[in-house]
Amino acid sequence: MVTVDRTTFRIDTKNTTYIFQKTKYGHLEHIYYGSLLSKEDKATSLRQKQSVQVGSSVLYDKGDTIYGLDSLCLEWSDNGRGDYRQSPTEFKMPDGSFVTDFIYDSHDITEGSIPMDTLPTAYGGNKTLKITLKDKVYPIYIDLYYSAFYDTDVITRRAVVRNGSESPLVIRRIMSMSLDLPDEGFELYTLDGAWIKEANLHKRPVSYGITINSSTTGASSNRHNPAFLLAESDAKEDYGSVYGFNFIYSGNHYSVVEKSDRDYIRVAMGINPCFFEWILPPRDKFETPEVVMTYSNKGFNETSYHMHNFINEHIVRGEWKKKERPVLLNNWEAHFFNFNEGKLLALAKEAKNLGVELFVLDDGWFGKRNSDKAGLGDYNVNTKKLPAGIKGFADKINNMGMAFGLWFEPEMVNEDSDLYREHPEYAVKLPNRHAVLGRNQLVLDLCQKEVRNYIVGEVSKLLDNASISYVKWDMNRHIAEGYSRALENQGEFYHRYILGLYEVLNRIFGPRPHILLESCSSGGNRFDLGMLCYSPQIWASDDTDPIERLKIQGGLSYFYPPSTMGAHVSQSPHQQTLRETPLSTRFNVSVFGCLGYELDLKYITREERKEIAEQIAFYKKYRRIFQYGRFYRIPSYKDNKVIWEALSEDKETALTALFQTLATAAESSDKLRVIGLNKGGYKVRTRVQRLYLKRFGGLLKHVLPIELNPEGAILRMVNRHYSLRDSVESYHCSSEALESGIPLREQFIGTGYDKNIRILGDFGSNLYITEKKSQEGEN
Ligand code: GLA
Repeated sequence: MVTVDRTTFRIDTKNTTYIFQKTKYGHLEHIYYGSLLSKEDKATSLRQKQSVQVGSSVLYDKGDTIYGLDSLCLEWSDNGRGDYRQSPTEFKMPDGSFVTDFIYDSHDITEGSIPMDTLPTAYGGNKTLKITLKDKVYPIYIDLYYSAFYDTDVITRRAVVRNGSESPLVIRRIMSMSLDLPDEGFELYTLDGAWIKEANLHKRPVSYGITINSSTTGASSNRHNPAFLLAESDAKEDYGSVYGFNFIYSGNHYSVVEKSDRDYIRVAMGINPCFFEWILPPRDKFETPEVVMTYSNKGFNETSYHMHNFINEHIVRGEWKKKERPVLLNNWEAHFFNFNEGKLLALAKEAKNLGVELFVLDDGWFGKRNSDKAGLGDYNVNTKKLPAGIKGFADKINNMGMAFGLWFEPEMVNEDSDLYREHPEYAVKLPNRHAVLGRNQLVLDLCQKEVRNYIVGEVSKLLDNASISYVKWDMNRHIAEGYSRALENQGEFYHRYILGLYEVLNRIFGPRPHILLESCSSGGNRFDLGMLCYSPQIWASDDTDPIERLKIQGGLSYFYPPSTMGAHVSQSPHQQTLRETPLSTRFNVSVFGCLGYELDLKYITREERKEIAEQIAFYKKYRRIFQYGRFYRIPSYKDNKVIWEALSEDKETALTALFQTLATAAESSDKLRVIGLNKGGYKVRTRVQRLYLKRFGGLLKHVLPIELNPEGAILRMVNRHYSLRDSVESYHCSSEALESGIPLREQFIGTGYDKNIRILGDFGSNLYITEKKSQEGEN
């Protein structure tokens, strides 16, 4: 898996090969990253050839007319020695210059992966190659770590700087990895957005110059997720060369994609150098976060598959690794801050009757937290709302037969709070400026030990006093004016904040592994691999509109598996968009994640109640496949369709959802494609879902034999107690026929209605279950 042949280093995973070589001057030349090669393939054949002197280049050695660093593909590069692309480092060297020349010093190979002292690391790797580089003049070292995760086709990279000199080293930029790839007409795909429109996928051609994907908000951010793809320009879901990158870090990140004059693409990823300056004392080291890399020549779905497997196997850890996540009900969209024990228990009782397994009490249970203006930082329960305290309330939920979960926002404080009145110095702010607020709150300064101790103490006390098996850990504002009274060098603030956060999470949840942690930051403002090392799932977005969720969960799905995405059914019209969507579609989107409900059950009809109970029963039956099965985005030539599939591990059951984003008139028939199945005969059927009469409005006369006033009391009553069965189809066919796709029944076009017509309209959807003939299910 890791082989060294004199000056050549080679890492193989199941389907990929990565090769680099030490040059005659000791630099590391990148040779190849792509599909698995034969053992016989040699670096001399594979490397970019260099036999001409490139005009206006700076040559590295007087006696060598060819060797110029700017025209090499490199694994790591320096400043001031002729490479004009962006270097992974910017060090202020002991001579006051920024010039460095790091060359090979030594290497070693270790079994497994090597954990870091300060940062979370992927675990369970097969082998790790460490290359030590040393500056030619000063005793400053960079250790480059490469870990191979064979089965998941992932290689991780990171760098550690060691200062062997007698003076402090000023680090102004240190990337975790840098890599040069010859261009293939690459396009860059990133996940960009904002609050309630997180992780939308965008692509752009990689052109000359530098494109930066970064965040400066103190978190990995909802603006630009750290993950990105580089794909050849005609790559598709099932075809083409695709490289994937991600970062095990939750703070300010920075990735460079730079196309040089030689048509080489430099890719570098690391901590954002903006606001960053680290002063590394003599004999100390600085660890950079780990970068995750994968490659496939089989298109986006395959690259995503590698990433999903890697996260489920090597990032998520502890008791919740590969464990089915409970169906939860969260009271936030039902109540916001306005609840009391009576309201909560009524909601919980309904939830239990419908099959919910975990009841989550969101914001508003402590201090004077009756709006977002006060109370953050105070964790004394509001006994007006919960007279029996958290313990008493949790017991009541447990006695109903559900687990209990609680919301916290431990990194924040309101000015109107006892904590702030007592310890204003705990907040992030400058002594000589008035502080800027976000959602009426300030950030607690996790660089201060006292603050970390306070958070650990308060949260732990609550967790130990009541039966709490789930925590939602929120973080509802961006950090600004990074400054800590605990630091002499403010350039260390943002990174030390994240180190403080990881320390706090370790101290609270390390000793309490039974607690399922769901991280949240106004939704998906911190959806990253760093958080996934602590919280097996993340609330993907405050946006619960399923049509928006198709973009959000769809975007995330390029890098993150469904098992990591909190996805809830909420009320329609949606809080975020005013869009009206069928209950079935809300469910059909949420099943591709960790299913929850987030609405006031008191206001749903009896028919909807029955439908929710059916939904939950169905989800429980198939949740392992939804959460841990292989996820595919199925392409459609129609741009008003989104199609997702979850395939069981044994490849004999597939669950496919076909979503119609907007209706078009008299559509041609839709095709159901099911891919990845074992060969054989299958039965495919539509999951039964309900169709409400109110969907037809004034068109009811097409549906009912009698005429009813669409606005009248009778119809309202009927709608509460009666629903139609949405069109159900059932076919028997081979895996081959399913792979090529079978035509589905036609959609409603206003020329009459019967039960064979699919009713989709805007935002309609169906779920299809495909099972091997011998194991047909019921629903
Ligand atoms: C954030 C979260 C929501 C909810 C509220 C509570 O917005 O993303 O899910 O918990 O905070 O204030």
